[in-house]
Amino acid sequence: MDDQTPKSHDEAARDILRGNDRGGFTVPTAGLYPYQWNWDSVFAAMGFATFDRDRAWRELETLFEAQWPDGMVPHIVFRADEPSYFPGPSVWQADKGPLPSSGISQPPVAATVIARLAAQDPDRAARLFDPLDRWHRWWHAARDPDGTGVIAITHPWESGRDNLPDWDRPGDAVDVSGVGTYTRRDTSLVDTDQRPKKKDYDRYLALVQFGVDRGWDYARIAAETPFFVADPGITAILLRAERDLRALAEAFGRDPVPIDARIARLEAGHERLWNPDAGAYVSRNMRTGERAPWATSASFLPLFAGVTARKAELLGTLDRFSRSVRYLVPSFDPDSELFDPLRYWRGPAWAIVNWMIADGLRQCGEDAWAARIRSDTAKLIGESGFAEYFGPLGAEPCGGGSFSWTAAIWLAWGLGTINEGTV
Ligand code: DGY
Repeated sequence: MDDQTPKSHDEAARDILRGNDRGGFTVPTAGLYPYQWNWDSVFAAMGFATFDRDRAWRELETLFEAQWPDGMVPHIVFRADEPSYFPGPSVWQADKGPLPSSGISQPPVAATVIARLAAQDPDRAARLFDPLDRWHRWWHAARDPDGTGVIAITHPWESGRDNLPDWDRPGDAVDVSGVGTYTRRDTSLVDTDQRPKKKDYDRYLALVQFGVDRGWDYARIAAETPFFVADPGITAILLRAERDLRALAEAFGRDPVPIDARIARLEAGHERLWNPDAGAYVSRNMRTGERAPWATSASFLPLFAGVTARKAELLGTLDRFSRSVRYLVPSFDPDSELFDPLRYWRGPAWAIVNWMIADGLRQCGEDAWAARIRSDTAKLIGESGFAEYFGPLGAEPCGGGSFSWTAAIWLAWGLGTINEGTV
């Protein structure tokens, strides 16, 4: 830990959330991400809840103000046109919601955070029950129309883990011939070695154009897109969210039966993502049936969703990861030749994913592993500040700085109470 005390890190974390507040919603970080992002906002709410509960609820409420009539909650809400970000609203042309937004979604962590906060503010939680329920139903209808029990993404950005190697091969099927020239803004703000490559961006933009050409009609997109990849991250996060929504249904006297049916489908679906050779839950290209051959940080998220059938194998994989990096949890298999320790989702560790994985480990009785991950997260932030993500070998701060979700996890996980070297 540097020369700051844990208390001063707490204060710095609160200052970051206040500084990134744009009046009811929080940007992930100024410049690089100047809008409201879906799961960033939800984690920000978790941080705000430690010192300003009203502000935490505003964050969640403003996110759901952008919900589309079909139930989708967009991954970016564009309340203004910000020249520091590309692609903005004029590229997305996604005008189906009450506010300008992107046309895809992002990991549905909101029910989990709302369930955490509900006991103290049940009325505000109750008002978000129906929007949450409609969003969850949208995931099943739009991203698992055949009822397989696994949830697919239609764009790498939808997974939240943008340039994961899992999307490389499925992405080969994306036609980029119409993309034309464009100017990225991210690489003028962050070291290019820490961001996705041009080849990835060409695919990102081609898939945005694909959605525009289909009027962002989710049924047409699911039927026609070449990129439809089941994601263990979204599938597990949605299953956990459904369980938390069910708890809210019980608390508010709502019918839990439809939620139970969705939970059962997702529980059964997990087995389709199990890859015994990788010792991990992996992504699956739903167009070809091909499964990814390696583990990622999302491979451990089924534990967060209460799926423990493969716990022993997952712990073996986590142990292997821990022998190849200094700080858990790398976003991608550190023993793969594609591991790239500073490049966004191809290696770095992320505080939000660490929090979810540790929560799952704690739930299934693996307290020592949970404590190790919590301690590593405290060290990463303690040594390198509130970066977007961190090198798992040398704790290098990567991506944007003064990052909302890193600050939020510091506060919500009580990382200021950990003394260096105690775990
Ligand atoms: C970006 O622009 O890098 C974002 O991750 C997209 O959501």
